[in-house]
Amino acid sequence: MSLSPLEILLSLAAAVLFILGIRGMTHPRTAVRGNLLGALGMLLAVVTALSIGDVMRWEWIAVGLAVGAVGGAVLALRVPMTAMPEMVAALNGFGGAASLLVAGAFVGDSSTPVATFAAAASGLIGAVTLSGSGVAFLKLREVRWADRLAPPGGVATTAVLLAVGLAAGGWLVAGGGEPAYWAIVAIGLLLGVALTAPIGGADMPVVISLLNSYSGVAAAATGFVLANTLLIVAGSLVGASGLILTRIMCVAMNRSLANVLFGRMASGGARADADEVYGGKVKATSSVEVAMLLEDARRVLVVPGYGLAVAQAQHVVRDLANLLESRGATVEFGIHPVAGRMPGHMNVLLAEADVPYAKLKEMDEVNAEIGEIDLALVIGANDVVNPEARTDPQSPIAGMPVIDVDKARTVVVVKRSLSPGFAGIPNPLFAADNCLMLFGDGKKALVELVAAVKEG
Ligand code: TAP
Repeated sequence: MSLSPLEILLSLAAAVLFILGIRGMTHPRTAVRGNLLGALGMLLAVVTALSIGDVMRWEWIAVGLAVGAVGGAVLALRVPMTAMPEMVAALNGFGGAASLLVAGAFVGDSSTPVATFAAAASGLIGAVTLSGSGVAFLKLREVRWADRLAPPGGVATTAVLLAVGLAAGGWLVAGGGEPAYWAIVAIGLLLGVALTAPIGGADMPVVISLLNSYSGVAAAATGFVLANTLLIVAGSLVGASGLILTRIMCVAMNRSLANVLFGRMASGGARADADEVYGGKVKATSSVEVAMLLEDARRVLVVPGYGLAVAQAQHVVRDLANLLESRGATVEFGIHPVAGRMPGHMNVLLAEADVPYAKLKEMDEVNAEIGEIDLALVIGANDVVNPEARTDPQSPIAGMPVIDVDKARTVVVVKRSLSPGFAGIPNPLFAADNCLMLFGDGKKALVELVAAVKEG
């Protein structure tokens, strides 16, 4: 299909806006602008796509737009920050479904070999994305039966499904038509479940990022089916950025992608017994005692985790940091790359409370100076400060880099109980000699701590 000069110009402008949008999102200061530029690019892309060729049924497009816009707006307004990964998983799944349905609608018409080959790719990858994202969604919701969806036979079953899927792709390319296409989709759906169900919950962020990449590849393949350059560009950008994010997360956890997909977490690993780890060794403290420790501390490191988000304690932790700084202490925030439940979770939370960006230190920077920290205040973090990752090669989180708060002079952990974090394992930090537990809801405990510091 040949495009008019105006259509070419609009397509180019949309592609440039996508790239500027992604670039903007590489830094918190420019992220909002980046998001707006990306959205503007998408609007331009949609308008351009609709203006090209014959749009047969405008009324159906209007219905689709209305349903999508209302559904998206309601979800975006309602879903709490802590459930954002589930929302991303669902959106990836919808992306995969949209790609496979659009490619499927064109299967009969797509006469060129490239389009047929692309339809096979879109059907298989879109279906893997759809069912894989569904399983990831259930796992993030901590629906226990999601683990039991894994088919017997492990990696061998996955390999057989992949081989059958590729064979069905060959059937489509050889002229199998719609039956071949829907066979690909059915096998892809099984493959998505087989790939995702055995993976442990703590690896879900990586899986979601990978599925995000798949959804982009499926969209790009559908772009080839439709001969739509913009869809190819947008899909490729999503595919590449998802893959880069996946790599960044694997590096942050010191794992290879193969290890995440087929490795130790899949089998659950060895689990230490909580009583064995904690028995008689945990020391509870009070806000008054912690306030006294803070009074003497010159250098304080705050390590936030998922519990800070649950407690919505970001504003009160900022107040505490300001109070301590007004009394001459240095307060910094140690940010673990996978703290919380989504990439950048802690950065977003602390930015919301206007904590200056310069106060946020990355894990490597913090670990290099951890011996000089007088008091490490861990708020609602657990797995990301678990020293077992360093010390126990059998641990499900072995090799994952953690913030080494156990090497600070004193550690205070604020959480409600000795319950485990996302990885479901006990944390020997809580039983360490230099560690005190301030039990309670993060916000309530910090409000009391601020009051105790003021009184002290
Ligand atoms: P977790 O290890 O999940 O621990 C969070 C802790 O917060 C829990 O032990 C819980 O203990 C405590 N908590 C919950 N509500 C609280 C409240 N109201 N007040 C105080 N504490 C509260 O968190 P983390 O250290 O941030 O580690 C993140 C984990 O999630 C990693 O395993 C990571 O792989 C995984 N994950 C990360 C992502 C990304 S990309 N960031 C996405 C999905 C999963 P109590 O119940 O005792 O209070």
